[in-house]
Amino acid sequence: MPSEKEAGVPSSPAGFAFRAPVATDGPVITALISRCPPLDRNSAYCNLIQSTHFADHCVVAQQGERIVGWVSGHRPPSDPASFFVWQVAVASEGRGQGLAKRMIKSLLARPAQRGVTSLTTTVTEDNKASWALFHSLARDWNAPLERAALFERDAHFAGAYPTEYEARIGPFDLKKIKEAQG
Ligand SMILES: CC(C)(COP(=O)(O)OP(=O)(O)OC[C@H]1O[C@@H](n2cnc3c(N)ncnc32)[C@H](O)[C@@H]1OP(=O)(O)O)[C@@H](O)C(=O)NCCC(=O)NCCS
Repeated sequence: MPSEKEAGVPSSPAGFAFRAPVATDGPVITALISRCPPLDRNSAYCNLIQSTHFADHCVVAQQGERIVGWVSGHRPPSDPASFFVWQVAVASEGRGQGLAKRMIKSLLARPAQRGVTSLTTTVTEDNKASWALFHSLARDWNAPLERAALFERDAHFAGAYPTEYEARIGPFDLKKIKEAQG
């Protein structure tokens, strides 16, 4: 796994270190997500599978011994040229320092993401911070962001959850992005 520096991501003045998760991080990741509403609390088992089978597509940010950030993702088998961001969680004390953006950029800089030409995610209408994050990434990458309803309140959630809109950023050229990041 390349270090943050090797991956072309600027090192952080706040001393965050990025790395792939391991199974023993599972309980801490589950607890971090539970402190980051409105994220869904998926099962502890789900976070363990992400931290093992999908470790190449997930990242934790550590400050000292403390895990303060988490991004889960994968490359959908049906759309392998895209990188899907599942959840982004930054502990309240880590917010506002560009950590979410840098975690996502570090994931895309990994060798496992060779061939990726777009990023997708889903966001509810009212999650302003999340929309700001993905619009900011689209601006940095000089790529369009398209939005369309994907999982709808009634048809897909039986009325229990708000509609999730897919945001698709791309196409972009990862090689050029890495060069620009220096
Ligand atoms: C959303 C979240 C991950 C942002 O983490 P962060 O590390 O503070 O975000 P960053 O510092 O990287 O900010 C990225 C961009 O989003 C903007 N942003 C972040 N939080 C914001 C907020 N609450 N309101 C408006 N804009 C916000 C930043 O200003 C920045 O934009 P810029 O580059 O144009 O200045 C964090 O607030 C969080 O964990 N929230 C709860 C869980 C959640 O909603 N996750 C996202 C859904 S997957």
